[in-house]
Amino acid sequence: MIAESGGQKLSKKIALIGAGVMGGAILRGLVNNKNLTIENPIQVIDRNPGKLADLKDHELLRITNDVHNLTDCDIAILAVKPYHVHQVIQDIPNGKVGCFASVAAGIPLKILAEWGNVPVARIIPNTPCLINKGISAIAYTDNTPSRIRQTIELVFGSVGEVYVLPETTFDTVTALSGCGPAYVYLMIEALIDAGCAQGLTRDIARQFVASTFVGAAQMVKDSKEHPGQLKDKVTSPGGVTIQALHILEKAGVRGVLWDAVNRAIERSKEMESEYSGGRG
Ligand SMILES: NC(=O)c1ccc[n+]([C@@H]2O[C@H](COP(=O)([O-])OP(=O)(O)OC[C@H]3O[C@@H](n4cnc5c(N)ncnc54)[C@H](OP(=O)(O)O)[C@@H]3O)[C@@H](O)[C@H]2O)c1
Repeated sequence: MIAESGGQKLSKKIALIGAGVMGGAILRGLVNNKNLTIENPIQVIDRNPGKLADLKDHELLRITNDVHNLTDCDIAILAVKPYHVHQVIQDIPNGKVGCFASVAAGIPLKILAEWGNVPVARIIPNTPCLINKGISAIAYTDNTPSRIRQTIELVFGSVGEVYVLPETTFDTVTALSGCGPAYVYLMIEALIDAGCAQGLTRDIARQFVASTFVGAAQMVKDSKEHPGQLKDKVTSPGGVTIQALHILEKAGVRGVLWDAVNRAIERSKEMESEYSGGRG
């Protein structure tokens, strides 16, 4: 992990274009981060600014609905859907943006650099950025200045962990951590239903399941033990857990998760080749 935001200043001029699920998570994580001093108001552009009703009078934000209103900024974070990125870049007059930082899935640095004609960064964040528990991978074009890199790492570091990784890893990172929250929610939902089926209230089942995921994940992060060893510690010989694990193994849960990740990687590559082929 290369960036933590504790007690730091964000002094560059930042714009965020697209404040939906991901942009909204980054924005709310940023403005709610008490360890970060934001020196210049952040320009936020979303064609549905109603989504930001809770933030409309925030002193650190200048919210508008049209990308043509963008004024000069050092970094414009692009958080629109991938198929809107090209148009958004085209709508911004030359010279207004020092660097584009795109979170769009499947659009390679090379294409972003061609469209933007400025240094670019590509980031794979995930939605837990909303609660400062995100994890983001970042890659840059070679011409991205170090002060701009530091600022991008500060922005994403202020909403979670940040790793600078080769772009060649991005399809895998997308499939693991970008998509990952959806896999986890699906498992959580299924376990809550199983608890409800036995008569627990939905609320109690939700608390027990969610805390189990948080606690188990934290143990994996903090412990040097292999996840298999941690699993064995829950699994007494002749006990309860081993019977449940037998059902999971028989159903091929490991293989299913592996296949799901492989399919997501394939789809990410397909999207990249669509954009590299000139679509968008
Ligand atoms: N969601 C995730 O977990 C996740 C994870 C990693 C990366 N990403 C990436 O994050 C990006 C955004 O995804 P999302 O799920 O946050 O999408 P989203 O919820 O649809 O948010 C995008 C927002 O941008 C607005 N917008 C589109 N074109 C615009 C324009 N020309 N000017 C101003 N606003 C514009 C959209 O308005 P309309 O609704 O009117 O189009 C929408 O409010 C995607 O590229 C995705 O690949 C998402």
